[in-house]
Amino acid sequence: MKALSAEDRGWWRHAIGYEIYLRSFLDTNGDGFGDLAGITAKLDYLKWVGVDVIWITPHYPTPDHDHGYDVADYLAVDPRVGDLDAIEHLIEKAHALGLRVFTDVVPNHTSNEHAWFKASVANPTGPYRDYYLWKDAKPDGSPPNNWVQHFGGPAWTLDPGGSGQYYCHLFLPEQPDLNWTNEAVRAEFDAILRFWCDRGVDGFRIDVAAGLMKHPGFADNPRIREVRLEDGPARIFNSFEHRYDLAQVSTVDVYRRWNKVVEPYDAVLLGELGVWDPVQFAHFVEDGTALHMSFALEPGLTPWKVDRLLDCVLGMAEHAGSAVAWEITNHDQHRAPSRLGDGDPIRGRRRALALTTLLVGLDGMFFVYQGEELGLDDGRVTQGGLQDPISVRNPGDHNDGRDGARTPIPWTPGARNGFTSATTPWIDAFDRTDVETVAVQEADPASHLHHYRALLRLRRSWPGLAQDPLLALKRERVDATHQVVTVLRANTLVVANLGLDEAEVAVPGGAWTVAFQSWPLHAPTGQPAAETVPAETTVVLVRTAD
Ligand code: GLC
Ligand code: CA
Repeated sequence: MKALSAEDRGWWRHAIGYEIYLRSFLDTNGDGFGDLAGITAKLDYLKWVGVDVIWITPHYPTPDHDHGYDVADYLAVDPRVGDLDAIEHLIEKAHALGLRVFTDVVPNHTSNEHAWFKASVANPTGPYRDYYLWKDAKPDGSPPNNWVQHFGGPAWTLDPGGSGQYYCHLFLPEQPDLNWTNEAVRAEFDAILRFWCDRGVDGFRIDVAAGLMKHPGFADNPRIREVRLEDGPARIFNSFEHRYDLAQVSTVDVYRRWNKVVEPYDAVLLGELGVWDPVQFAHFVEDGTALHMSFALEPGLTPWKVDRLLDCVLGMAEHAGSAVAWEITNHDQHRAPSRLGDGDPIRGRRRALALTTLLVGLDGMFFVYQGEELGLDDGRVTQGGLQDPISVRNPGDHNDGRDGARTPIPWTPGARNGFTSATTPWIDAFDRTDVETVAVQEADPASHLHHYRALLRLRRSWPGLAQDPLLALKRERVDATHQVVTVLRANTLVVANLGLDEAEVAVPGGAWTVAFQSWPLHAPTGQPAAETVPAETTVVLVRTAD
């Protein structure tokens, strides 16, 4: 099977993506675990929603310490989600509908149950030892440096084989980091990428894309602030400047190599960079010869602090333009209405739509996270039902846990919301209300789903929204309550008023019509542009005549 043909090689620059958190999407065989057949069954729905690309979170065999991001075999399919035939069938059907398929590739680390790591531990003088990052202990027996892992605790664990060395892991001890200075590791991943491209995959979402190369000196990271015992793992991790463990310029070379590997297939490389500085971010994507694009993750991690959000959005747009993949929610983040609403999910939904409409109006891909089209806030997990290792291994009220974003998609009203027929799904969450379900929202033209779909369809049917050259991207900040951004193209003007008061709009000459208004949910369209935009609302205006 081939990737979907690309007449327009830069097609992804104005595409809409949809992230599928595989285990929580749809379970078709009653084992409580979402599967590939569940995705295949819902491709028509996704097409109807208006997406161009689906990204499927890891589908590989895994001992599941980090829910699939600890891969035990990159060339196989987790039997719980299906098999090679199932993924090929999914890709075939997606292509027939004109949908592209991205899979997840996890190159920073493997599972500790991967055959490479087992061999690395078993034989310290064998060829696999050097697949991982082994270092001697300090003279007092402590770890080689002060690096911490993302999920709490040191980034080093003593060799279970008893050599006295430590291995490095930026995540759990069950996720040992690969040694990307080793040519053999690079060759393995060339083959892995080809293997999936040969099966028709159209692109890769690259996990922890900034982590691969470490600074050769393995020096201590500078500490930015005191680490307190009661801090959650995210705060501890962010108490250090990650000068030596992340975002090394030498990692770009890995992607230059990958870029050549995937080029004959027209496949696309999408990084999960976790780099906040737009100039540094741009190094990874700027000339299209390394990563084709990368997620800007900060808007999905920031509460409703408009200044901060806009600094980030405009900085990324200015420095990386159409190589930015935008998102405001993913499987690692709180769902946007929960994060943005200051405790009020309706307000959160309104703000989420205002921000989404702005991002959909910018250059670059926009990614929807499953359930975002329904306006879902964080799901609630039953007591004792927590799954995320961040929560399970770090008790306390640090709010870093990711389970709220990972509860199943509510398809229909009723028990388990039609996600599974099992009594105990992999994550035990409370059912959603009827109005949150796909079935009820599909049937209601005034629902969040229909409104959201109208926005996605506008982007596709009105190329002027994200394909015409950007003429001006302007931020107007009059005072703390006035926060307006305008995005002007030849025939489109997006006005995002993220402030607390209504804002006046300076519409250029000619006749302009409202093509979309982010709030209220079924705001009318087609009328002439008004002179003001309500608070926390974004409008898309299109030029109808000169
Ligand atoms: C990425 C994934 C996240 C995972 C981590 C370690 O950030 O999105 O879910 O825990 O990498 O692989
Ligand atoms: Ca299943």
